[in-house]
Parts: sequence; structure tokens; C-alpha cells
Amino acid sequence: MNQSGLELNKIVAAVLLAGIIALVASFASDGLYQGGSGHGEKDAKRGYTIAGAESADSAGSAAPAAEEKPVDILPLLAGADLTAGEAQVKKCAACHTFDKGGKNGVGPNQWNLIGSDFGHVAGYAYSDAIKALHGSKKWGFQELSDFLAGPKKYLPGNKMSFAGIKNPQDRANLIAYLNTLSDKPLPLPK
Ligand code: HEC
Repeated sequence: MNQSGLELNKIVAAVLLAGIIALVASFASDGLYQGGSGHGEKDAKRGYTIAGAESADSAGSAAPAAEEKPVDILPLLAGADLTAGEAQVKKCAACHTFDKGGKNGVGPNQWNLIGSDFGHVAGYAYSDAIKALHGSKKWGFQELSDFLAGPKKYLPGNKMSFAGIKNPQDRANLIAYLNTLSDKPLPLPK
């Protein structure tokens, strides 16, 4: 009686345990599956947009719209990571200096960039595309973000040979850091 009671307990415990393991395993694989497929979907959407199927499904979902319309950079600036932004500057260093009074390289020195006019360095030989906007357009956060997302697309005819920074948060981090390289950094959005 005692014995068989114990046996029964063991059996019940074993069945329960098996059940729990099965449950946990199915949760875990669910999670993995969803995570995986979520990513895949996003990538797939991106792929479509880049491939040029732009107008077809722009109404449907956020991802293609984000590729077409400039990303609103202000909310991303609020949480920007300056250290990560400083690391991004390496992408520019082949052509630009960023220190006060730094020499122009292939591109103009970038001290005091944000808040300044397009073509902000006197004496640098800008392209006509940038010269034409001198005096009428300033490098605000949003302008710089849109430019860096795709320089040639944003400003056709400019002579900066740089593919762009596609990730909006990378741009926000970089822009927040560039903003510090100035006599008068602008206040970042909260
Ligand atoms: C391959 C060289 C090269 C690289 C890399 C490069 N730039 Fe440029 N950049 C240029 C040139 C050349 C110009 C001048 C463009 C013109 O006159 O049309 C320029 C112009 C600019 C301007 C306009 C400045 C003004 O005074 O109006 C900004 C802003 C800028 N670059 C930011 C950057 C940032 C930020 C990076 C890195 C993420 C970067 N560039 C990477 C070559 C480069």
C-alpha cells in the first residue's frame, strides 16, 4: 500500500515533469520562431523597397514608408549615445577634420557645422549644388540626418562620395556628437 502509493507518486511526478518540459520547450521555440520570423519579415520588406517597388505597398506598412520619407530624427536624438556617435566619425575622417580651426581635407572642416549655413566654411571650394543653398538653408538636425542618409539623393550634384548611413539611430548618435563640436552646441530635443 505504502509502496504502490510511492510508485504512483513517482509516475505522477514523471508525467508532470514531462509535461512541464514539453511546455517550456514549446514556449522557447515559439519565442525563437517569432523572433526569427519577425526579423526576416522586416528584412524582406526593406529588400522590396530598395528593389524599387516603392509606390505599390507604401500605404500598407511602416517599413517602406520609412525608406521613402525621411525619418524624423528628433525623437532619436533625445536618446542618442555620444560615445557611439564619436565612433561613427571614423567614417568621415578620411575626408573631414572636426576640430576647431582644422584644415579642410577632401571635404570641409566640420567645426560649428550644426546650425550653420550650407557651405559653412569660407574658402572651401564647394560644388554648385551646395553653393546654391548658401544663405538660404542651414544644417539643422533634420537636414543633416536626411543628407547623411543618402547624400547624393538628398542633394543631387554635391561632390561628397559617401554612400550614407542607413541606420537612423546611428545617424542620431553621430549628429548628437557632431553637435558638441561647436562653439555653440544647440539644445537637443528632450
Ligand atoms: C570620401 C570623402 C568624404 C567622406 C568619407 C565624407 N565626406 Fe562629407 N563632404 C565631402 C566633400 C567633398 C564635401 C563637399 C561637397 C560639395 O561641395 O558638394 C563634403 C561635404 C559635407 C557636408 C556639407 C558641409 C557644409 O559646409 O555645407 C557635410 C555636413 C558633411 N560632408 C558631413 C560628412 C559626415 C558627417 C561624414 C561621415 C559620416 C562625411 N561627410 C563623410 C567628402 C566626404
